Formats: sequence, structure tokens, C-alpha cells
Amino acid sequence: MSVKHLVLQSLEQNREVDISGEQLAGKLNVSRAAVWKAINQLKKDGYQISAATNKGYRLSARTDLLSAEGIVPYLSERSRGIRIDTHKTLPSTNQAAKRLAVDGAAHGTVVLSEEQTMGRGRMGRSFFSPAQSGIYMSIILCPQISTSDSVRITTAAAVAVCRAIEAITGIRAQIKWVNDIYYNDRKLCGILTEAVTSFESGLVESIILGVGLNFSTAPEVFPPELREIAGSLFATQSQTIVRNRLVGEIINQLLTVCEEINAPTFLEEYRARSLVLGKKILVCDSSGKREATALDISENGGLVIQNSHGELETLHSGEITIRRI
Ligand code: BTN
Repeated sequence: MSVKHLVLQSLEQNREVDISGEQLAGKLNVSRAAVWKAINQLKKDGYQISAATNKGYRLSARTDLLSAEGIVPYLSERSRGIRIDTHKTLPSTNQAAKRLAVDGAAHGTVVLSEEQTMGRGRMGRSFFSPAQSGIYMSIILCPQISTSDSVRITTAAAVAVCRAIEAITGIRAQIKWVNDIYYNDRKLCGILTEAVTSFESGLVESIILGVGLNFSTAPEVFPPELREIAGSLFATQSQTIVRNRLVGEIINQLLTVCEEINAPTFLEEYRARSLVLGKKILVCDSSGKREATALDISENGGLVIQNSHGELETLHSGEITIRRI
């Protein structure tokens, strides 16, 4: 690790305290000049670092830049040791993670970017990913589960992200089937699950789980077509929570839920957080648009509906909208 990364690691681990150049140099076994150079490089990267005489350096609470050094302090024992790659810009973190997965990256590997220029959404749509106000992350999961059980990952991921949001912010988010996360009638977060399949065996080798969360995106920043739908966690009020903290908790919750994939607990939580159960909906699938009532979530995360002929059906893909009556 370079001196710059070691200094950043120390500053991130000591967010609330001053740490002198001498202390840093001693701890890292480098010269004070090397520490000073690293501090200047970090400032150039956008870190706000105060330097008070006789006190030392301190990372400003306002600094909210994504980094592995900033995320690791928030990881649980179980999540420690995973690889975390952060980027300033990428076309798509899912695309980058897929490449790593094909090259054999380990379970839990995470790719993050401050912005995405070609963020991908479900159903071939794009995902609006402006710089520094969102969390755009992909995690590689290689769960030891059967291909049929792997469909539950998408459902489990929505619950994991809601748990993380609630643990860090106190906000109780809800889920619109399949896995859009809502708060105050606005979509905060979308999840895109993609599989890397072995050409020879046809089996799912790994799953790329992409999470796109609007953290502090101001309403006017969204393009006109999203303004009525999209929202963000901290759209209006100023917040003291840094994105690294929420990212750390999302990783913790995703890796935990992955191990509980066969337990019924997350399905119960999914149902409890559902925004659609009991509501009149419009189903949009390959056969067009039709009215129905959302009744339940099946064991595999399908949406059980009652169609206009009174028959029960389970949807496994497609799009629904809630009818306003
Ligand atoms: C949706 O709402 O349709 C799903 C959106 C998923 C967006 C995330 S952002 C990180 C990851 N990289 C992508 O290109 N897409 C996912």
C-alpha cells in the first residue's frame, strides 16, 4: 500500500480525532516529509483535511469520498478481508464486476464508482448515476447454493439493503416488487442482478449484484422524466452520515443474508416491507398490460396475483405499477 493510502487509512480510522504528522510518521514508519506529501496528494483528490498547529491532521466530517480505506472500518468481522475497488468514473460497476468475476474474483469482491456513464438498469433501461451523490456498487457473490435457490438472491438483496438503510439512518424503506426500494413514495434505490454462467456446465458460477442508491441527489438534478418518481435518502436535509458507512453496512447485510438464503426470515421481512401486497396493480409483461391484485410473495420471490378472471398466477418477471384509485 502506498504512503498516501496508509495515511488515508489512518485518517479514516480516526475521523473524530487529530493525529499529528509525527504520530503518523512513527506509526507508518515513514518520514514526516512523506506524510506531508501524502496529505497534499489527498487534498488534491478532494479530501478536506485540517491541519492545526500542535494538534495535527484531521479529516473533515464534510469529506464524503468513497474509498476502501473509508469502508473497512465499518465492516463486520465476517466481511473483513474482501477486495474493494473504488473508481472515480466507470461506464458501469456491474460490467466491471462481471469482468472480475470471469477472471475468478472471490466471493464478496466489491466494485464502486463515484459516477457511472452507462449505468445499467433492469429491462434494458439505463440508470441515472451522477457524480458523488449516489452509491453505485456491485458485489460478486459466489454462494454455495443451487441454481434454483439463486433466484432468491434478488429478493434477499432488497431486504439486505433496507436493513442497512434502517440500521444507519433509521429510515424504514419499503420494497416494490421485484426489488425497487422506496421511501415516501419515491424510488431511492434499484437493484440489478446478473449471473455469470459457465459455458460448459450451464451452472451459475457467480452472481453480480448491482445496487444503485440515490444518497443525496437533489431533486432538480434528476432528469425531467425521473423527477416524479425518483427520490434520495437525504434530498433536502444536510446529513452527517458518510456514504462509506452505508456502503459498509450494505456489504455486511448482503453477505449475511447470503448465508441465510434458505431461512424463511428474510421472506417474511420482504412481505412486511412490501409496498404492493393487497393493492390493485397494473401488470406489464410479454402479454401486454392488465389489471390484477397483488396477494403474496412466493417462496422463490415471485409475485402471487389474482387476475381479472379471479385466477391466481405467480409472476417471476415483468414490471408492475400500483394503480392509484
Ligand atoms: C433498476 O432500478 O432498474 C436497477 C438499477 C441498478 C443500478 C445499479 S448501479 C450499480 C450497478 N451498475 C450498473 O450498471 N447497474 C447497477
